[in-house]
Amino acid sequence: MRVGILTGGGDCPGLNAVIRAVVKVGTRRFGNEHVGVRHGWRGLLEQEATALTLREVSGILDRGGTILKSSRTNPFRDPAAAEAAIAGFAALGRDALVVIGGEDTLGAANRLHAEHGVPVVGVPKTIDNDLSGTDVTFGFDTAVHIATDAIDRLHTTAESHDRVMVVEVMGRHAGWIALHSGLAGGADYILIPERTPDLADMLDSVRRRHARGVDYSIVVVSEGVDLGDAGVEGDLDEFGHARLARQGVGDRLGVLIREATGYDTRVTVLGHVQRGGSPTARDRILATRFGTRAAEMVAEGRFGRMAALHGDTITDVPLADAVGTLKTVPPAYYALAEPFFG
Ligand code: F6P
Repeated sequence: MRVGILTGGGDCPGLNAVIRAVVKVGTRRFGNEHVGVRHGWRGLLEQEATALTLREVSGILDRGGTILKSSRTNPFRDPAAAEAAIAGFAALGRDALVVIGGEDTLGAANRLHAEHGVPVVGVPKTIDNDLSGTDVTFGFDTAVHIATDAIDRLHTTAESHDRVMVVEVMGRHAGWIALHSGLAGGADYILIPERTPDLADMLDSVRRRHARGVDYSIVVVSEGVDLGDAGVEGDLDEFGHARLARQGVGDRLGVLIREATGYDTRVTVLGHVQRGGSPTARDRILATRFGTRAAEMVAEGRFGRMAALHGDTITDVPLADAVGTLKTVPPAYYALAEPFFG
C-alpha cells in the first residue's frame, strides 16, 4: 500500500520513533511505500510531501522533535481549508494516512474520515497525556522526567536560600504533568487545573513547613490553573485554544505567595524545555509499539481508529472515542498527593 505520514500539533519526544516504526514495519512486513507530509495539516493543504524510505528513518529513534516538522494548522478552520485538505489527500495518491497527533490533530483526522471518507489511522501523541481512549500517550514520560529533574535541581536553591520556588509546568487543561512530576519530585504543594485552587490551604502548607523549621518549599503549578484573579489574556491558536504559558500563572502565584507570606519567592517556568530533546527509553518503546500497531492497522484496513495502550496491551479504539472528551486527573488520584503537602 502507499502510505502517508503526518505529525501535527506541538512537537513531542517520540515522534521520530513512531515515524521510524511505521516505515520500518510497513516496508519490511507489508511491502508498503511511504511519503511524509511536512508541517502537519499545512503540508496536506499545500501539498508538501517528502519521500520516506528506510534511509530517511535510519538513526532517528532517539531524536526529539519530528523530521517531518509540525504546525498547528487546522484543516477545518474554514470550508476552503477543508476542501484543500481533501484535494491534498487525493493529490498525494495514498491508500492511507497515518496521523500522529493530539486532541486537535486527531479531531481533524476523525472528521476527515467520518465526513469525507479519508482512510486515516491515528497515533496518540502529547506530553499532556490528556487523550481519552489510551492509558497513556507517548511523550508524557519524557516530560515528567524533565520536570522532575528540574524540581530536584530547584530543591538545591530553595534549601540553600530559604526560598519558596514556584515551578510552572505545561499540560494545558490537564494536570498530569504537574501531579506526576510533583509527586516524583516531592513537591510541597501541587495545583492542577481540574481543581479550583484552595490558595488559603496552599499558603497554610507553606507556613506550616516554615513554622516547624523547614525554611523552603516547592510549589508546582500547572499552566492551566485558574487563580481566580483577573489574569492575563492569552491569544488563541487555530483550534481556538488559549496559549496558556503566556498567561503567566506561575508568576502571578509567585507574587501572591510573596505578598501573603513575606517569604523570598522565585518562579521558574519550564515551558518548551519539557517537550525538547531525546525521549526516555519508555517513550521510545511506547512510540515503537504505537507505530508498529499503526502499520498493522493500515494493512488490516482499520481506518478511523487510533492505536492505544490498555494496561500493557497495544490495541486500537475509534478516533471518535479518543477526541470526544479530555482525559483529566480524577479527584481520587489527586488525593494521593495531599498527605505529602506541607
Ligand atoms: O499540548 C502540548 C503543549 O506543550 C501544551 O502543554 C502547551 O499548553 C502547548 O502545547 C504549548 O503550545 P505552543 O508550543 O504552541 O506554545
